[in-house]
Amino acid sequence: MAALTGPAPSAADDCLPVDPPAWVYMLRCADGSLYSGWTNDLARRLHAHNGGSHGARYTRAHGGGTLAYARRCTGKSDAMRREAALKKLPKAEKEALAAAWAVENKITIRPAAPEDAEAVNALYCWYVDHSTATYQYGHPTVEESRADLCLALEKAAFLVAVDGAGKLAGYACAHPWHTREAFSWDAETTVYCDPHRLSLGVGRRLYTAVLEILRAKGYWNAIALVADPNPASAAFHRAMGYTRYGREPRTGYKFGQWLGLDYWVLPLREGTAAPEPVRYALPQKELEAILARANGERR
Ligand SMILES: CC(C)(COP(=O)(O)OP(=O)(O)OC[C@H]1O[C@@H](n2cnc3c(N)ncnc32)[C@H](O)[C@@H]1OP(=O)(O)O)[C@@H](O)C(=O)NCCC(=O)NCCS
Repeated sequence: MAALTGPAPSAADDCLPVDPPAWVYMLRCADGSLYSGWTNDLARRLHAHNGGSHGARYTRAHGGGTLAYARRCTGKSDAMRREAALKKLPKAEKEALAAAWAVENKITIRPAAPEDAEAVNALYCWYVDHSTATYQYGHPTVEESRADLCLALEKAAFLVAVDGAGKLAGYACAHPWHTREAFSWDAETTVYCDPHRLSLGVGRRLYTAVLEILRAKGYWNAIALVADPNPASAAFHRAMGYTRYGREPRTGYKFGQWLGLDYWVLPLREGTAAPEPVRYALPQKELEAILARANGERR
């Protein structure tokens, strides 16, 4: 029998709690030395160390630095405890930690395969349970995620980022924006990174490659629908060159609150010429060249 009502609104306590963000980290300074610190906002802290305001005196004097180690902690006191322990380590042990982190975090970007659906589904469901980044209430099945993945692969793009152990670090995908033919040159992009690996550049690498694939296939616009508030995603889309074109101030209800929705658009080509039909299947060589760039290989 058909349902008589729509879904009940999700309540504030449907949101599963997440440890407050806190990281202990090391930076490799320009002179090769290692700086240790803790933060509750890795992206902002890295920016501060590299010329932003409120950086540390040490990194200012040593030419800024790049991330050499990061570990998500269970909260501020855990992070502070680990930072104190890190600072006491002999240099050789810090170097060993940095070397192990570099191996573990060697991220490879590759096209998704149907077998990735389970890991993709698990990552997405984490955000369904803990975040308003997605407006979905219930978990999609793995089969639904697989069908969605295959559709994106066939028509636009679906890339995964995997670490040295083959574990999913994030994914980004693009789907045709609409079914009406006139929208055939627009793709909707989205990206989800492992919550333990945010601000490490995974999202940028994934999106850069997805956008390159869309350009190569002949798409004209990349469109992202971003929940409001979602300051990390807004900053991310701005950093990737998108512009916010519109806002619906009160369009989604999740976890006991009304939310908004922002439309972010990145034109992929210029002009007003008639478009060529989109090439759903990219020649293997072109795809390989894009992936080689995403993986920092010289060709
Ligand atoms: C949004 C998201 C994909 C960004 O991925 P990420 O790997 O953490 O981001 P990156 O490290 O690649 O950052 C790329 C840029 O985005 C911006 N950025 C990313 N996270 C940010 C944050 N928390 N605060 C401010 N800026 C941020 C920075 O400008 C950064 O610039 P840089 O490359 O010059 O350092 C990630 O935070 C995520 O998965 N969030 C949860 C899911 C979500 O909201 N997805 C978007 C749905 S529309």
